[in-house]
This record gives sequence, structure tokens and C-alpha cells, in this order.
Amino acid sequence: MQKERGLWSSKTGFILAAAGSAIGLGNIWRFPYIAGENGGAAFVLIYLVFVFLLGLPYMLAEFSLGRAFQLNTVGAIDKIKPNSFWRYTGILGIITSIGILSFYGVIAGWTFGYIFKSFTASSYEGAAGFSEFVSNPFYEIFLFAFFIFLTTLIVYKGVEAGIEKWSKILMPLLLILLIILIVYANLLPGSEKGLEFYLLPDFSKITLKTILAALGQAFFSLSLGLGLMVTFGSYLPKDTNIFTASVFIVIFDALIAILAGLVVFPALFAMGENPASGPALVFIVFPKLFAQMSGGSIVGGLFFILLSIAALTSTVSLLEVPVSYLVDEKKSERKKIVWKVAVLVFIIGIPSALSQGTVDFFTNFGIIPESLTSKDFLSQMSFLFGDFLLTAGGLALCIFIGWIWGAEKAVNELIIGGNNFKKYSKLWIFLIKYIIPMVIFVILLSIFRI
Ligand code: TRP
Repeated sequence: MQKERGLWSSKTGFILAAAGSAIGLGNIWRFPYIAGENGGAAFVLIYLVFVFLLGLPYMLAEFSLGRAFQLNTVGAIDKIKPNSFWRYTGILGIITSIGILSFYGVIAGWTFGYIFKSFTASSYEGAAGFSEFVSNPFYEIFLFAFFIFLTTLIVYKGVEAGIEKWSKILMPLLLILLIILIVYANLLPGSEKGLEFYLLPDFSKITLKTILAALGQAFFSLSLGLGLMVTFGSYLPKDTNIFTASVFIVIFDALIAILAGLVVFPALFAMGENPASGPALVFIVFPKLFAQMSGGSIVGGLFFILLSIAALTSTVSLLEVPVSYLVDEKKSERKKIVWKVAVLVFIIGIPSALSQGTVDFFTNFGIIPESLTSKDFLSQMSFLFGDFLLTAGGLALCIFIGWIWGAEKAVNELIIGGNNFKKYSKLWIFLIKYIIPMVIFVILLSIFRI
């Protein structure tokens, strides 16, 4: 049984795979533009508070549930409360992961396309070039399909051979390249203004929307809320120290986001671009930065290769959620079911791919009000799945772990292989049972007032 499900081959492999899931477009593409739209430093500060106060304890909760039962979220819930409505918490997580994958894959396709644009130096066309690129239906569909295809190939091979091997080599490389770019961007004249915007908080800019955005971003970036880390935890051997591993993953993830901001904002202000450019932001700023560097087309190409790979380790983890559920619970054969799920994701993603100026209906979709997100189908999906359902489902899962399974039982699991967690266990129980659910609940309610 254990062999069939797969098990991480090493502790580092697991940490890097979980970090690989967490680190992705969320850090480098989403974080800067959400920070830019929400006034910069004040947002960054709230985001960091949420990451450590809510994100880290929440990650421990997901890992402990997974490892305790060695099952996906639905399977674990069924073991604890057979045939109860709680299993729909798990099902919601599966639906959410498919929803996120459907628009995330589209953006991952853009990064892939920008590899070629960089190498051929045709990328340096700023905002106009970007909108031309994303409104080309052929590129959009083809790149999206290709990315989903790559993801499927890796998931097809299973946990260890696929996910683990890739993450190990490539995540550290991304870190190094970012550091080089930070140095370069901060040497540009005029870049100080960007640092100020990014690092000196102006608290008058904090609104309900800022707080909601920071919460959504914290969950999204750490891959929390839909039970993904339950699945990853289920492949963990008992002697792994979950606490130490989680601290590392959370710090690594936050670090990459913060570093991305240290490239984007200084560069952006030096070039006189608008921080509130939305999803296009990094696709405008980075190519412009490369255009000014000597050897920029090579550096740019390398950057978009690494970003595509960071995205790939995330899409792989997202696809793993429905697949592991179907393999565990429906006894489907991994190698057959992956392709079916992938086709479903592709179909659901088509409207997002065509929503950037290609098809008017999808471009001006706008069911969710504009005070919450932009009108295009992709942004609407991003808000619905990546913010709302992710945190709402996250609330349910948190209540389930804290109250139904019981935070005390989770603690018992966490101290296996993790003695250093003991001294935090009281604080952790308090956070999981009271603070985290209350904070998420209040912030979610605020959506209806925005
Ligand atoms: N965390 C990834 C990112 O920042 C995206 C992601 C992967 C995700 N798996 C997830 C988000 C599960 C939410 C839930 O790019």
C-alpha cells in the first residue's frame, strides 16, 4: 500500500517539494502586483504578519492531518467522521485546486512564452507588447495547453521520480538569480523611490480590501487552505520533524516574495511605470529591466525559464490534489486518471486564456463586482478560487482540524519526530482553535461590505 502511494525519498526532497509548491507565480507574479495595487509597504507588513501568525500554524495543521492518516484530505476526514458533511470540506479543496490550476496554467503559459520572447529580444515592448501577446488566441491556447501537458507528464510519473527531483535542483538557482537582479535594479537611478514605496509603510493606506488581499495572498502563496499540504504530509515518514520543516518552508516562501518585490519596485520607479498595473506588472517591468542590461536577453531568458519551472512545481502540486484523491478513494489508476483530470482543467481554463482582449465576452465578464476584482474572466477566477473559496474552505478545514479531529491529537502527531515543538503546543492549540478561524471569518465577512 505504502509503496503504491509513494513516499518522499528524503527529508530535503520533501521540504524542497513543499517549498516548490509554495514558491511559484504567487511569489514573483502575484505578490508584487497585489502589493502594488494595495499601496506597497503597509500591505507587505500585514502580509508578513499573516504569514507567520496564521500561515505557519496552519501549515502544521495540514501536515499533521496528512501524516497521521497517510491519506488525502477526504480520506482522512472520512476516517475521523465517516459519512459526515465534513468530507465536503475536502471535496471543496479538490474543486478549488482545479479552479486555481485552470487560470494559473494560463499565466504559467505566459511565462513560458516570455522565455522565447526574451531570447529573440522581441520582448521589450512594455505594456503594449504584453497586451498584444496576451490577446493572441493562438499563443494563449497553445502555451496553456503545453504547460498543462508538462504538468501532467510529471504527475504521471508519481511523487518521487517527478516532483522531488525537479524541485531539488531548480529552486536554489532561482534564489541566486533574484539576488543578482536585486543588485542590478537597485543601482538604477531613481530606484530609491521604489524602495520607499515598498518598505516604508503608510498606514493610512490600510483598508478592509488591503487586509483581505493580504490574507488571500498569504494562503495562496503558502499553498494552504485546500488540503494540498495534507496530501504532501501523507507522503511523510514518521521521523520527520514537521515543525522544523514548516518553519523552513514558510521562511523560504516569504523570502522569495520579498526578494521579488526588491527587484520589481525599485526597477518600476526607476522606469516610471505604474505600481498598480495589475497582472501585467511583472511582464512589463522585468523585460524592461533586461532590455537595459548588457547580456539582458540571456539573463531574461534564464529568468523566465526559472520562473516557468517554479510555476511548474506549483501546477504539479495542484494537479496532485485531485489525482491523489481519485487514486486513494476511487481506486483509479494514476496513469490513466491524470490525463482525464488534465483535459478537464484545460477545458475550464479556456475562457481565462481568451479573457485578455481576445473574446469580448470573457474580457468583460464581470459577475463579481469591480470593487473586488477586475472584470476579465481570469481575474474573476483568481478572486473566486484563489481568494474566496481558498480562504473559506481553509476556514472549514481549520475548524475540522481544531475541533472535530482535535488540536490535541494534532499535537500528538506533531511531536512525533519533533520534540522542539512541545514548548509551542499550547500557543498553537490556541491559535488553531480560536484565533485563526476568527480572523478568517471576520475578514471573509468583510467581503460583503466592500
Ligand atoms: N503557492 C503557489 C504559488 O504561490 C500556488 C499554489 C500551488 C497553490 N498549490 C496551491 C495555491 C494550493 C493554493 C493552494 O504560486
